[in-house]
Amino acid sequence: MVIDADQPQNKINEHIYGQFSEHLGTGVYGGLWVGEDSDIPNTDGFRNDVLKALRELEIPNLRWPGGCFADEYNWRDGIGPREDRPVRINTHWGMVEENNAVGIHGFMRLTELLDTEPYISANVGSGTPREMANWIEYMTYDGNSTLANLRRENGQDEAWDVKFWGIGNESWGCGGSMKADYYSDLYRRYATFAKDYSGNDLYKIASGFSDDNYDWTETVVKNAGNHMDAISLHYYTLPNGDWGNKGPSQDFGEEMYFSGLRQGLRLDEFVTRHSTIMDKYDPQKRINLAVDEWGVWTDPLPGSNPGFLQQQNSIRDALVASTSLDILNKHSDRVRLANIAQTVNVLQAMVLTEGEKMLKTPTFHVFEFYTVHHNAMLLPLDLQVENYEFGDESIPAISATASKNSEGAVHVTATNLHATQSQEVTVDIRGLEVGSVSNARVLTANEVDAINTFDNPERVSPKEFNNYTLDGNNLTLRLPSKSVIVLQIK
Ligand code: AHR
Repeated sequence: MVIDADQPQNKINEHIYGQFSEHLGTGVYGGLWVGEDSDIPNTDGFRNDVLKALRELEIPNLRWPGGCFADEYNWRDGIGPREDRPVRINTHWGMVEENNAVGIHGFMRLTELLDTEPYISANVGSGTPREMANWIEYMTYDGNSTLANLRRENGQDEAWDVKFWGIGNESWGCGGSMKADYYSDLYRRYATFAKDYSGNDLYKIASGFSDDNYDWTETVVKNAGNHMDAISLHYYTLPNGDWGNKGPSQDFGEEMYFSGLRQGLRLDEFVTRHSTIMDKYDPQKRINLAVDEWGVWTDPLPGSNPGFLQQQNSIRDALVASTSLDILNKHSDRVRLANIAQTVNVLQAMVLTEGEKMLKTPTFHVFEFYTVHHNAMLLPLDLQVENYEFGDESIPAISATASKNSEGAVHVTATNLHATQSQEVTVDIRGLEVGSVSNARVLTANEVDAINTFDNPERVSPKEFNNYTLDGNNLTLRLPSKSVIVLQIK
């Protein structure tokens, strides 16, 4: 590994490390929010244990209220006295009751408690431009208007700062089954009425496609590019590569471990190709690619409601997270926002809860390791690595990111994907007189499907890493199999 410490490239925007909390299963209700009257210790209804854990991740932005849920959500349902709020049906996610206990004010309180920025995903599929315009005015206008005064009556005097504003979600699918031309026009129409009030400056995000539908990106960027700040891309890692049979999240062997990692690495191809199409219309890279849904999606846990998307979270998933974050960092000249799906209890979650219990998943620890890269400068990194072969397939055995922060410290995160072999990595650090290596930690496990459980919540958790030697500017790392490390070089 060769790192050029004196040739910083672009900033790794902290917003790449965003999270996503949809009204889905127990992601919000039960996971984040238990209500003020709950026996579970809470602040204004939000669980203290979950808040405390999530604060460690320095979450830069939180996307809400969906997902597919967003395109059937009416913001007016979630304001005013709780007892007067309507009960709706969450038709996408289990046909369960949505009592609107958490609405805008609750969500904005959550963003305060987490010290994070809101990313609102607005309804285009079943809402109207007026409904969306009113929503923005309600939240962000600080003058005298009926809607701004209604916000004040509901307890929020000051207008909120809201930057990230999604205009539709998966508008080709659950968000309205539209075609790209039609959505482009609709996007332009909605974006026209998404106004900047009182100094608020909206960053407008168009609905992009999943995986490899490049035509959608091309059409929408060509037709509406000058009305947007970003277009989204969704990519879910299906360990088995098949939506009908995604593969289990626990109790699997090396085949499912390897294929999960291999599927995860495909993110690079999708980001590269969508970005190349965008280059045609936006060579200056003004428009960002917002990978606002990504992560591992497995079969639901046996016995769980399939509409709740509950899954376990293993060391494999942690390595999908670290390698995906390396890919997003590498493309951070175009990718300046991303959101893993989802924060609590849903898909590749950071924490899982069960009643009053909470555990941190292996993926949590990767996000905590990678806080060192938030807003740091990406450093050029040349990697020559062996392949990890399984059956007829092979993937690179090592993935890494190097960055330099505003104090001049270099941080390296490196992943050994191999299931059974440790890897010795020699790191040649150029352009920096290396004095010391510090704060080195490792996340690893003995089994490819190791998970944290409520009985054994620390099974996959960070340990001090000391299996390295430093000789002048040459650092030799001995990475255990299936591991991710973080360290600081000064
Ligand atoms: O994250 C779960 C769902 O996946 C989201 O609601 C939707 O946007 C995507 O299909």
